[in-house]
Amino acid sequence: MSTRPTEVAEAPRADSYYCEIPNDPCAIVMFGASGDLARRKLLPALYDLALHSCLAPRFKLLGFARTDMNDDAFQRGAGEFLPKGDKAGADASKQKEFLQHLHYFHGNYDDPESYKKLAKRLEELDAEGQLGGNRLFYLATPPEVYEHVIEQLGRAGLAKSKNADSWTRVIIEKPFGHDGASARELNAKVLEVFAEQQVYRIDHYLGKETVQNLLVFRFGNGIFEPLWNRNFIDHVQITAAEALGVERRAAFYESAGAMRDMIQSHVLQLTSLVGMEAPARFDATSVRNEKIKILQSIRPFNSETVWKSVIRGQYGPGTENGVAVPGYRQEPGVKPQSATETFVALKLLVDNWRWSGVPFYLRSGKRLARPMTEIAIRFKKAPHMVFQGESVEPNSLVLNIQPDEGISLSFGAKSPGSHMHISPVTMDFRYKQAFGGGSREAYATLINDCIRGDATLFDRADSVEAAWGLVDPILEAWQNASAPPFPNYPAGSEGPRAADDLTVSEGRRWRPI
Ligand code: BG6
Repeated sequence: MSTRPTEVAEAPRADSYYCEIPNDPCAIVMFGASGDLARRKLLPALYDLALHSCLAPRFKLLGFARTDMNDDAFQRGAGEFLPKGDKAGADASKQKEFLQHLHYFHGNYDDPESYKKLAKRLEELDAEGQLGGNRLFYLATPPEVYEHVIEQLGRAGLAKSKNADSWTRVIIEKPFGHDGASARELNAKVLEVFAEQQVYRIDHYLGKETVQNLLVFRFGNGIFEPLWNRNFIDHVQITAAEALGVERRAAFYESAGAMRDMIQSHVLQLTSLVGMEAPARFDATSVRNEKIKILQSIRPFNSETVWKSVIRGQYGPGTENGVAVPGYRQEPGVKPQSATETFVALKLLVDNWRWSGVPFYLRSGKRLARPMTEIAIRFKKAPHMVFQGESVEPNSLVLNIQPDEGISLSFGAKSPGSHMHISPVTMDFRYKQAFGGGSREAYATLINDCIRGDATLFDRADSVEAAWGLVDPILEAWQNASAPPFPNYPAGSEGPRAADDLTVSEGRRWRPI
């Protein structure tokens, strides 16, 4: 991870993303280079890194995909996704310089010949740019082809480091597997070809500044951690709400749904960071050792608890910002009777000393009232109210992951006047106010970490499998039963009613979306 300002007094530091020590020169081979993820997220992230001197001046990027095109067309296509207008980095000459590092390779993911040619092309680029043999393979293809790419890289001798001083690494996008069995199979395939230290399983939520700040907040301050347990916390709520629908991703989403797409990955990552013990050190092994313990402590679902503690939903037609939007089943590419869930709410229990008896309520969905990702820690009530006739909302600590990144602590304060009336107020920290400027894109942070060989913010084989282990019984139960009457929430709402019952039946309620 890059260094961050340690004192608010130093902020704003527009240059804080510059890399003081240049990264190793390397060739980045991007599989799936003509796809949406590569163009919308990865190429702009690499441009951002180049702009901030985090890519060595001689780096090379080789886009690999099935679409037939030449370097020029690839560069032109990439250029369309770089910042425009008065955004930072919109400088035409800088963009032109960046695009000259981009090359294209037309190949088939399962064709050994393509990889022989790829090996040759990499030799050329290596010599041209004096890259020292360092290689980063980025799998941004549809997940169905991951195994082919891995196998072919192995067969072509591309998975091993070129020499004793060089490195070869692979970033694998989520979803990593479709369920526990396929994730184990994929891990086994990957680990036949690469060593675990070469493998970077990416979950872009871990690259978000506000998600990393959760660790700083908990383990860099003395006052919160003593309260962070069953003695003081009533429950935890984690929400990842999106206002967007499925957009153009029906082909993927129809076989994924919110449970695989969001809960198994992003939301369980947030859960691990909220729940974990302090790592011995801030390094990949120590942090990941602690994160997996939380996943292992979550009480597994069984065929009874699934129906009590997990709610699924699918959006119907509704409005978003006053504009009529179609229901999920009317989206292009979605089956008219689709049973895919676009919303999940669930209750988890963590069976360990810190969290025994503290429910974690998680929810995520598309086409909800507004985009909002937050972690809310609800504390227990004051044990005795000395102010007669007054009732005070228990304290809440809310970590806003996005948008409006920040942290708020709510508490009761005396309202002005001669009576002892108590009103809820908040103490707010806002990232933008404190540090100015925007935060670095999650993908830029993570690619930079990978080039530096820091896997702290990436997933390990065991934790991916543990996360699947938690959602597998839910997916199985759903598969073996008929879906609830979908759609069960209108687009632009707060999700299905049944989700409210999860909390209300336990005397709690969701925070508004
Ligand atoms: C992706 C999911 O991993 O995360 C998408 O596949 C989702 O469905 C996206 O929209 C959300 O990411 P962010 O960074 O916009 O919250």
